[in-house]
Amino acid sequence: MGTNDNFILAIESSCDETSASVIVDGKVLNNIVATQSVHEKYGGVVPELASRAHQENLIPVVQEAVLSAGITLDQLSAVAFTRGPGLMGSLLVGVSFAKALAFARNIPLIEVNHMQAHILAHFIDDPKPNFPFICLTVSGGHTQLVLVKDFLDMEVIGETQDDAVGEAFDKTAKLLGLPYPGGPLIDKYAKDGNPKAFKFPVTRMAGLNYSFSGIKTAVLYFLRDQLKENPKFIEENLEDLCASIQWTLIEMLQIKLKEAVKRYGVKEVAIAGGVSANSGLRNTLNELAITKGWNLYIPKFEYCTDNAGMIAMAAHYKYLAREFSTYDVTPLAKMKI
Ligand code: KG4
Ligand code: ZN
Repeated sequence: MGTNDNFILAIESSCDETSASVIVDGKVLNNIVATQSVHEKYGGVVPELASRAHQENLIPVVQEAVLSAGITLDQLSAVAFTRGPGLMGSLLVGVSFAKALAFARNIPLIEVNHMQAHILAHFIDDPKPNFPFICLTVSGGHTQLVLVKDFLDMEVIGETQDDAVGEAFDKTAKLLGLPYPGGPLIDKYAKDGNPKAFKFPVTRMAGLNYSFSGIKTAVLYFLRDQLKENPKFIEENLEDLCASIQWTLIEMLQIKLKEAVKRYGVKEVAIAGGVSANSGLRNTLNELAITKGWNLYIPKFEYCTDNAGMIAMAAHYKYLAREFSTYDVTPLAKMKI
């Protein structure tokens, strides 16, 4: 690495992962993530506990990122952070830290939109999508269809009007008695189940929007009725239940994705966010890519879940565009792309 290289430290603290990454001239050197296990027993992320854990984890995570990059803080060219969207208390920890560090070192501060960053994670490794492409971002907090015209030029063309798809996985898993986060467990049991065993409603919203709150209620009432007849209904049918729930969620995702691709005439298709780990979704999208002639891009799992590597990648493009923030910048719990 030369002495004129640009080093950016990036921080992510929007939800329940505390993460730091160092990027040099567009190459992500590391991606340190501290996952908060404190939420497991509550069946979901507890905002106050998340903020406290960020407060505890942030400095060690930053130290590890800086150390493993083999640099010192005085070599930093800029400090980047997630401004939003996310949990206010969680964001505040990262924003305050980044502001203090940038101010102390008198270097630029770069705010990053978390949703843009999920998409820019596709530029960390090869193969990289070509512009314009359509990205389906699916996670515990978000479900969006985005038309990506350039690194910093994106348009949301569809999104959930209520729950995120990961939330639908986790909430239905909870109804089945599975621990949080239930998404990966539904995936696991679904592999041995029949996706057509039970029928749950496929909600169709107007345009390219999604709605995932209906399935939770449908599963709740269905289980309530079945359990009255047979108290062992869930354990006797767990695989089929998981496969049927997963099939319904994937069906909803793919209907709008296909519609978006058709509407915009784009064959470059990408997927981002934690739910892109789902093997059923991957299989469905891989098959669609073959039959429809799409070029499909799925980042490494490490860059699908919340991580600072993606924040660093976004910060790199903002650094090149000289898009800096002022020191009075505040977090935004709701922030549009
Ligand atoms: O991107 P992420 O780590 O965090 C958020 O920004 O929300 O996504 C976490 C979500 C959770 O809802 C989790 O259940 C879901 O991703 N998830 C999965 C799988 N792996 C993670 N859902 C279904 N199948 C999986 N294999
Ligand atoms: Zn996220």
